[in-house]
Amino acid sequence: MEKENNGEKWKFQGNKGLNTSSVSVRGVYNMLMDSINNNDNNKILIRLCRVDPTDNPLFRTTPVAHEAVAAAAQSFDFNCYPPTVGLPDAKRAIANYLSSDLPYRLSPEDVFLTVGGTQAIDIILPVLARPGANILLPRPGYPQYDSRAACCQLEVRYFDLLPRRGWEVDLDSLEAMTDDNTVAMVLINPSNPCGNVFTYQHLEKVAETAKKLGICVISDEVYAHVAFGSNPFVPMGVFSSIVPVITIGSLSKRWLIPGWRTGWIATCDPNKIFQKTGIVANIISYLEITSDPLTFMQAAVPQILEKTKAEFHVKNLDMMREAADIFYDVCKEIPCLTCPHKPEGAMAAMVEINFSHVKGIIDDVDFCIKLAREESVILLPGVTVGLKNWLRISIAVDLSDLQEGVST
Ligand SMILES: Cc1ncc(COP(=O)(O)O)c(C=O)c1O
Repeated sequence: MEKENNGEKWKFQGNKGLNTSSVSVRGVYNMLMDSINNNDNNKILIRLCRVDPTDNPLFRTTPVAHEAVAAAAQSFDFNCYPPTVGLPDAKRAIANYLSSDLPYRLSPEDVFLTVGGTQAIDIILPVLARPGANILLPRPGYPQYDSRAACCQLEVRYFDLLPRRGWEVDLDSLEAMTDDNTVAMVLINPSNPCGNVFTYQHLEKVAETAKKLGICVISDEVYAHVAFGSNPFVPMGVFSSIVPVITIGSLSKRWLIPGWRTGWIATCDPNKIFQKTGIVANIISYLEITSDPLTFMQAAVPQILEKTKAEFHVKNLDMMREAADIFYDVCKEIPCLTCPHKPEGAMAAMVEINFSHVKGIIDDVDFCIKLAREESVILLPGVTVGLKNWLRISIAVDLSDLQEGVST
């Protein structure tokens, strides 16, 4: 197709299918930051929009991680390209780390290193895509799944998470929307954006439903073990003898190092269904044509997973619990916001806007733009994660920012 361009004719133009920034967290964040840059109030910027734990100055990774990376980078042994599926020692360490919570042992061959949890999503969706296929995503959810599905022409169908039932999956609606072309469902546990942690019993029901429907479960466990309420974290892989599970993991959140871009895909599948259906071969083929996590980062993984002290995790969970308490108490005092479920995991929560208590606001986006412009507080409009007229608020931030930002 030729386009007029100042009298010149060019045969190329941007791919509109890739223009997903209107629904990405980063796209909305940039838009809200622009409205702050254009304002003339001198208020201090408070960002409760993105979930980057390093926004809280008290969240510092363990020295074990720094030492491991420094030693790997200085050794000259890891200046090479890594093997396609990841360094063997890193695969072994991740398999051991995950196996300690499972009723069976993963082998290193079940693990594939990725550039953060993001690349794990970027790989697994095209691997599952085929003409006419659809995938079930939670609503609210994590927008990377929607953007990636759009890029590989995988149809998306949304099942609801129920705010007043602790954000459990509406399994009836999930079953009702499944057909012969449904290949998988995604579950995020602990949940970003909802802040809940699914119970053992509910996960078992999800596994049984998925088995009945003949679909696999993609369990996004990027926030694995970031559980500070009454429900302990249970990995979906516990139920992998019922249904095959693809686990997505990352060092980003639990180790407070999102910038180090190290994650993984683990196929939890004692019945070898992913082997028989060609999924494992396909993951490897995809890895052969994409970029790898840095070799020295991969080399640091065993030490990070094996040598981090329990106190490091306990301290961080204590801080998250305190943030959740403060957040929930402040919310209760604010008539225009309702938080239906106190956050107990991950690093964010969803709150509903009560429009009867706010004047001159059209919707969640309008709410966030005006808040940014007038008060320099940045929240994420719920529509970005699939729930219009809600807000997602990060609680992994400086506590005074959290208190001030929410009560503004
Ligand atoms: C649910 C979920 N999945 C995946 C990711 C991406 O993980 P990473 O930051 O390791 O790329 C995130 C990041 O925020 C997330 O919240």
